[in-house]
Amino acid sequence: MIIQARGLEKIYRRGAQQVAALRGVDLDLQAGEFAVILGPSGGGKSTLLHVLGGIDRPSAGQVRVNGFALESASESALTRFRRDHIGFIFQFYNLLPSLSALDNVLLSLLAKGWGWQAARQHGLEMLAQVGLAHRSGHRPAELSGGEQQRVAIARALSVDPALVLADEPTGDLDSATANELLELMADLNRSLGKTFIIATHNQETCRFATSLFEMRDGRLSPKGMS
Ligand SMILES: Nc1ncnc2c1ncn2[C@@H]1O[C@H](COP(=O)(O)OP(=O)(O)O)[C@@H](O)[C@H]1O
Ligand SMILES: [Mg+2]
Repeated sequence: MIIQARGLEKIYRRGAQQVAALRGVDLDLQAGEFAVILGPSGGGKSTLLHVLGGIDRPSAGQVRVNGFALESASESALTRFRRDHIGFIFQFYNLLPSLSALDNVLLSLLAKGWGWQAARQHGLEMLAQVGLAHRSGHRPAELSGGEQQRVAIARALSVDPALVLADEPTGDLDSATANELLELMADLNRSLGKTFIIATHNQETCRFATSLFEMRDGRLSPKGMS
């Protein structure tokens, strides 16, 4: 089991106001799945991914990811956990605008202690895997949205994470490009055996799911697959 979560709660406090974004989430996920979490905006999907990826801590509950207990980890242990075990993919790509596609991928590898030559070689291989070998020298502004997301996918996978978390990865793309990107992620899931969790409100994503969940009002429930 790569993820075991029990009774996760997250309460955001804004002055006197409280928002319960997670209200008792249980989740068991086997390694190698392509899990899709569907649900309306405000349902708690991003909050859940942030907790699973060690960006944010739960207010209550237990969560183990790849054997690591997140709720009790120190701040520095969480930072290491994120760097070593999690690949993040975001809606708006989050690439560094002044760096080329290759350098955006390299940065993650160098941060993990790779030597320059090996990192460059591996970065180029990762860009080739996402079909972007011919764009390695382009900056984000010189790439289409779909191409930028491919770079972000290469960056996320380059460090060989145990778990890839994608938050609305197709939210900024037209439907044809969105489908290409979903196919790419599903291919990488199968060929690399990487576990993916995709949070989205795009129903099309269901087709690719090996397990499907719905999230609304801070609650997660398994959803039958048609
Ligand atoms: N940093 C925050 N501070 C306060 N409330 C937040 C914060 N982040 C999210 N929320 C609230 O938590 C709820 C769940 O949000 P979110 O996890 O972003 O849902 P989704 O990703 O499904 O749209 C929403 O009501 C949202 O307004
Ligand atoms: Mg969200």
